[in-house]
Amino acid sequence: MKSLLASAIAVFLCAVFTQNQTAPVAPKPGSAVELPPVKSLDSTVVALPKGDPSVKGVAICFTAAHCPIATAQLPALVALARQYSEQGVRFYFVDPNVKETTADLKELEARVHGAGPLIHDTEQLWTRALKVSRTTEALVIDGSGVLRYRGAFDDQFALGTRKPEPQRHYVKEALVAVLAGKAPALPETEPKGCLITPAARPAAPVPPSGEVHYHEHVAPVLRKHCVECHRPGEIGPLPLLSYDDADAAAAMIAEVVEQRRMPPWHANPQFGSWKNARGLSEEERSTLIRWASGARSEGPKPAKPADPAPAAPLWHIGAPDLVLTIPKQRIPATGKIDYHYVEVPTGLTEDRWVTAAEVHAGAREVVHHALIFVVYPKDRRHEQPPIDGGLNGGFFASLVPGERPNEWPAGTGKLLPAGSALLFQMHYTADGTAREDATQIGLVFAKEPPARRVVNRGIHQRKLNIPPGASAARFEARWKVSRDVEILAFLPHMHYRGKSFRYVLEHPDGREETLLDVPRYDFGWQATYIPEKPLQVSGGSTMRCIAEFDNSAANLANPNPKATVRWGEQSWDEMMIGYVDYVEK
Ligand code: HEC
Repeated sequence: MKSLLASAIAVFLCAVFTQNQTAPVAPKPGSAVELPPVKSLDSTVVALPKGDPSVKGVAICFTAAHCPIATAQLPALVALARQYSEQGVRFYFVDPNVKETTADLKELEARVHGAGPLIHDTEQLWTRALKVSRTTEALVIDGSGVLRYRGAFDDQFALGTRKPEPQRHYVKEALVAVLAGKAPALPETEPKGCLITPAARPAAPVPPSGEVHYHEHVAPVLRKHCVECHRPGEIGPLPLLSYDDADAAAAMIAEVVEQRRMPPWHANPQFGSWKNARGLSEEERSTLIRWASGARSEGPKPAKPADPAPAAPLWHIGAPDLVLTIPKQRIPATGKIDYHYVEVPTGLTEDRWVTAAEVHAGAREVVHHALIFVVYPKDRRHEQPPIDGGLNGGFFASLVPGERPNEWPAGTGKLLPAGSALLFQMHYTADGTAREDATQIGLVFAKEPPARRVVNRGIHQRKLNIPPGASAARFEARWKVSRDVEILAFLPHMHYRGKSFRYVLEHPDGREETLLDVPRYDFGWQATYIPEKPLQVSGGSTMRCIAEFDNSAANLANPNPKATVRWGEQSWDEMMIGYVDYVEK
């Protein structure tokens, strides 16, 4: 106990006096673990069981209310805890975020659902004693108090990537070994969750690097580049609205900005200029990194408080003229789920032109993406543009990870004929809890028929044959553009093995021009790229889409590097589609 206290003080001092938290060595597998008593959320004192023969093992699992990996992983963790509690393993859930709100803790406790006590480590006693740096790190201790495993829960998630399902179940494998009285084959792996912000602050930077204050320097950058998504009701997993929000997430903010993962944007800036581009200037980056990895000063409050960030609107497209909802879909807790195809009649008695469409997932946790197609009434099938009809050929509206609503420029729109239906292609991914989904689409109609009609085409290559282990298998698809068109948007689509995607235009005179280059495609962010001005493409040009796939083990998202991969709908199959929205001239 004494040495623990001493080491806790040492950690604290190190944290205060150096930037790099050089704490004493983290307990290694094979060493005995002792922890000070702490309190669980319901105020019960929690101490590690000692000399209790009914306790065959202990699992300490770090989690948090807002880390996307912690959230995604929790259902599987809770299920494991239930299964192994019956065999004498005690589970403890620890939230090391000192600024977690009471509401967040209550919600987290509900999700832990009695599978073990939830400890809010307000002084980071366990966090520091165990030298845990990321939420989702798990530690497995055997019945005699010896650490047997520390690291990731399984191999499904890493920041920014995920496999459709885990291939290794590290914690479970460790528990099986411990219950059999053996040492686990794999005693240590790298934890994958969000960095934990140490409660103790490093010293303020020495001039001339200058002080960075939250209100004066940091808040304006967050407001401009982050709050759009990082506020309640939007897609960002944590709020970044206040000093406390940013302070709690500081370590993670420094990491995502340093690694240029946030704000999310994947186009190579060398080609094209984009209306919806995101990015920080070098100065903004440096401000965020210096503040988040420095003293995190709040600084003077502004004389006039900044206007509160507007709440997320229910519909970003404005009040829709028509909302259609799919009948309730039941999503099982686990397993592979085939696409659901659900047809919803529009009920329209006259033709309508749609200028904006927004899809709302009913059960966000399990809706991976949705593509919506128009089905023309029988007697008008001949009018249906072939490219809008065939699945994979082109879609009407979409909901893809990280994306905003579909909106088309003034004077253009998509046709929704009287008597038509919308066909929803729903891609669900199980998240450990059985759920019901009733996804909706909201549509805004043009007041009068627009001058030009927007169509969507999928330039695709179905003859995919990606060898096992290939790190850059290259495929190409082409579209011979027969008439002059204006391109309004691009959306490259591949699955987990997607590596890079380019749109190259061959002009009629043979000149080649790269229109869009996505050097590091990310399945988690299927962005739409909207050119600053619509791109003029003359008839007789050829649009080439060039994609690379990474089927090697180095691709952390790869579901199976040993498989030969072909075209298929499921995300462990592949697709190669270069969607374009365009109008004919
Ligand atoms: C377009 C929306 C969007 C914008 C803009 C955005 N984020 Fe995010 N952010 C997300 C989403 C979605 C996730 C969750 C990613 C996941 O689940 O893997 C995320 C995750 C994070 C995380 C958690 C760690 C992680 O990698 O999952 C941090 C920290 C973060 N963002 C900080 C920022 C900061 C700082 C900015 C501004 C400089 C910013 N974000 C801008 C949507 C956004």
